[in-house]
Amino acid sequence: MYNTKEINQLIRHRRSVYPVQYVEGKVIDDTIIEQILENANWAPTHGRTEPWRFCVFTGDGLKKLAQFQAETYKKYTPTEDFKENKHQKLLDNPLKASHIISIGMKRQASGRIPEVEEIEAVACAVQNMYLTATAYGIGAYWGSGGITYYEEAKPFFDLEPEDKLLGFFYLGHIEKPSPEGKRAPVQEKVRWIKG
Ligand SMILES: Cc1cc2nc3c(=O)[nH]c(=O)nc-3n(C[C@H](O)[C@H](O)[C@H](O)COP(=O)(O)O)c2cc1C
Repeated sequence: MYNTKEINQLIRHRRSVYPVQYVEGKVIDDTIIEQILENANWAPTHGRTEPWRFCVFTGDGLKKLAQFQAETYKKYTPTEDFKENKHQKLLDNPLKASHIISIGMKRQASGRIPEVEEIEAVACAVQNMYLTATAYGIGAYWGSGGITYYEEAKPFFDLEPEDKLLGFFYLGHIEKPSPEGKRAPVQEKVRWIKG
């Protein structure tokens, strides 16, 4: 029904491509970003809660994000854990990207679906974004460092206390591609039961 050879290749050749590998200053067409978001929206979702929530930062929005995450890190990190090089990275890294999409999970009020399943649904949405970016030849990477798990960061990304910030999806045109990926054989992770 589909070209399985191409789909196998797409999945197996998808790599994380980091901001240092992007062409600085080269902006991805918003129509591609819209396709990436549209495909995210087609992830599986238990109970049709569709819990993924995104904010898209580009242009001066990237400066706002950089400023916010650096300030938040400085303000809410205990002095003994604070690292100046990390602070600087939070200021610099966003400016290397074309777009950054914050990855949020919106908790449904009823709590009927277990929280872990809502996180899983968002992870499926992110994989859709990864694969779509790969298909368009765009570099992408899911980062969960910096202020990802800072409670104080949530309102900036339109998230409430019961929601979760799960990280940031960086996007950019590729200057230096990632090397081939590596995985241990799947057979080591699977047990078949046939009777
Ligand atoms: C939930 C999640 C969070 C991640 N967070 C980070 C991160 O904070 N920093 C980082 O360098 N890579 C992060 N990654 C990317 C992984 O490092 C990457 O997927 C892994 O090295 C395998 O490489 P590949 O994506 O090219 O196959 C994250 C991946 C996932 C799934």
